[in-house]
Amino acid sequence: MADLLRQLEALEEAARSATGAASDERGLEELRVRFLGKKGELSAALRGMGSLPAGERPRVGEVANRVRDRVEELLAAARLRLEDSRLEAELRGPAIDVTLAGRRLLPRGHRHPLTIAGADIAAIFARLGYEVASGPEIELDWYNFEAINIPDHHPARDMQDTFYLDRGGLLLRTHTSSAQIHYMLDNEHPPDVRIICPGKVFRRDSDVTHTPMFQQIEGLVVGRGITLGHLKGTIEAFLHALFGAQFPVRFRPSYFPYTEPSVEADLGCVVCGGSGQLPAGPCRVCKQTGWLEILGSGMVNPAVFEAVNARIGRVVYDPEEVTGFAFGLGIERVAMVRHGIDDIRLFYENDLRFLEQFAG
Ligand code: DAH
Repeated sequence: MADLLRQLEALEEAARSATGAASDERGLEELRVRFLGKKGELSAALRGMGSLPAGERPRVGEVANRVRDRVEELLAAARLRLEDSRLEAELRGPAIDVTLAGRRLLPRGHRHPLTIAGADIAAIFARLGYEVASGPEIELDWYNFEAINIPDHHPARDMQDTFYLDRGGLLLRTHTSSAQIHYMLDNEHPPDVRIICPGKVFRRDSDVTHTPMFQQIEGLVVGRGITLGHLKGTIEAFLHALFGAQFPVRFRPSYFPYTEPSVEADLGCVVCGGSGQLPAGPCRVCKQTGWLEILGSGMVNPAVFEAVNARIGRVVYDPEEVTGFAFGLGIERVAMVRHGIDDIRLFYENDLRFLEQFAG
């Protein structure tokens, strides 16, 4: 028995020095086979157990098991050590230059022209201190019409026929103006409002300049002493920032039930420069008028504040104390004017030949 125990001890010793010296994975695998393999040294030693008296076998078996565990531990430790030094070497090796220009393997995507236009508009208003708010696309009749002074049977409803959902006076909003009401109701604090609300709107409309779904940006400013002068200054600054200060801006009287007075803002035609003529003939973009209609706006009609107050149940937006202006514009319209696009449907056909022109 003593012989066998010594043999096992020697085996462990040999494994210790051999694993300590191993320099690669393959060497370690050879050691595993040499010591623990079926035809390895441990098996060989255990074969000697058969000739031992039965009483001594448990003791030898116990030592043999411990030696096997030890050798396995030694192999695992050696494997870790090799892994560590491989990593070390890699870290010490030549650095990877992450600033090296990549090879362009895949075509890069880019934003949709409407996304770009929306973001550019929002960025201008962000610089003017506006916050971005939003309202739901599925809307109650009350928010879309009633609260902004378009009662049932008002002729203005005819211009904005929409998609009515089955029940409960629900419809798809025809404009983002309804978001004004949500904001004022959600913010039951003394009014000092300066928001834009971008979003999708829906109408029963479809031709080269109308799609059943399109996108708008609404604006609302409320505070003490807000005047038509603020409206004009803001809109002019906005249009100049978006299109360039070389284009004139003009305001024309108009009508919207939720503003009084109401105005529409026009921009000198960016295509013909306002002359209505191009070398090739009459300018089709402005239809020879020299002007492009860009947005609707006006001073908030006190009736809108009254509707909000009535819903809240107390006077929060006191028409005697505060005034405001609102405006709304179509994002497609802006993108069309910008890029000289004459068919709105191109934005929604997902034809790459069209979209790829707006890369970069
Ligand atoms: N809601 C109008 C439309 O969809 C746009 C508009 C006009 C919004 C005047 C306003 C406004 O806030 O004051 O055509």
